[in-house]
Amino acid sequence: MPINPNKLNMLREIKEQPQTIRDTISSTLRQVESVKQIIEETASNRRAVFLIGCGTSYYASIAGKCAIQAFSGIPCVAYTASEFRDFEIMNKGDTVIAVSQSGETGDMLTAVKQAMKHGCRTISITNEAKSTLAEISQKTIVTKAGKESAVPMTKTYTALLAALFSIAVSLGDGEQLIPELEKTPKIVEDTIKISETQVRDISAKLSDPSEILLLGRGPNYATAAEGSLKFKEASLVHAEAFHSPEFRHGPKALVKQGTPVIALTNSNKLDETTIRLMEELKTTGANTISIGDLAGSTIRIPPFNYYLTPIPYIIPLQILAFYLAVQKGIDPDNPKNLVKVTTAT
Ligand code: M6R
Repeated sequence: MPINPNKLNMLREIKEQPQTIRDTISSTLRQVESVKQIIEETASNRRAVFLIGCGTSYYASIAGKCAIQAFSGIPCVAYTASEFRDFEIMNKGDTVIAVSQSGETGDMLTAVKQAMKHGCRTISITNEAKSTLAEISQKTIVTKAGKESAVPMTKTYTALLAALFSIAVSLGDGEQLIPELEKTPKIVEDTIKISETQVRDISAKLSDPSEILLLGRGPNYATAAEGSLKFKEASLVHAEAFHSPEFRHGPKALVKQGTPVIALTNSNKLDETTIRLMEELKTTGANTISIGDLAGSTIRIPPFNYYLTPIPYIIPLQILAFYLAVQKGIDPDNPKNLVKVTTAT
């Protein structure tokens, strides 16, 4: 039975993002002082700063880590909560930034409890003020995404990013970037407008792809990974994300005539390697699609600070995952075998 896209929560929630990001940035900046203090003290005591999350929230942690390091020079590590819990060495005085929209994910709660036992300091970033995570953490930043009904995270993902980037710009010399960060809602609004028609067109041409490969690096490896998760859960398409330079070390063998390869490409020098790779893949017959600020991009996003681009760059991928699902007659709000909150460990 054909699905009416306008009746689905996922599309409505994608379109709410300019407002939810605006609200999250202003609310986080108002309460960031104590978080800033904890992170700066941890770094000056030469203790570790970890960002942990599961699924989409782990990808938000990767983008958050890149921004914190780039703006403040404070080293930090991003982990999945379950790997952190079982394989990392935790020491008294380390700080754990726990990223979780629900604040009830089982792997996350056990990881945070374990970190607390080892004497780590805990900061949580969550969309649920009354969650267990918020209750047990020493400090909580609550994102302003509002209720998210669709199982695939869209507006809660960008709200988690907005909170993490607000923390990142508040550290070290980052403060000069606050005006740039505050442009995010407008850039997202423009990106939604620019991309919707183009993305619907791409989705119609892709029809029912058997796989999609995604390339990105640094902050936008997180975008590639999050995009691949959206394709898997919302559109039931197998998709895989790679750090673009790593693609040459084996995965490139997978590319056939017409294989869809989506890359996040920015005019920042660091993305030149991705651009060269995409040119090469095009000559071998791949169906190359680029998202970024370059003149020849398939979907062109307005220029923006490199470390803040994960917010606008995920938008076309969310919309593409949505329309691929609708085209296949799948309800993207309720993917099979998944629940909104994964309490099982
Ligand atoms: O509530 P959390 O942010 O802790 O959830 C973590 C994951 O279960 C969640 O991100 C999951 O991957 C979503 N279905 C992604 O859309």
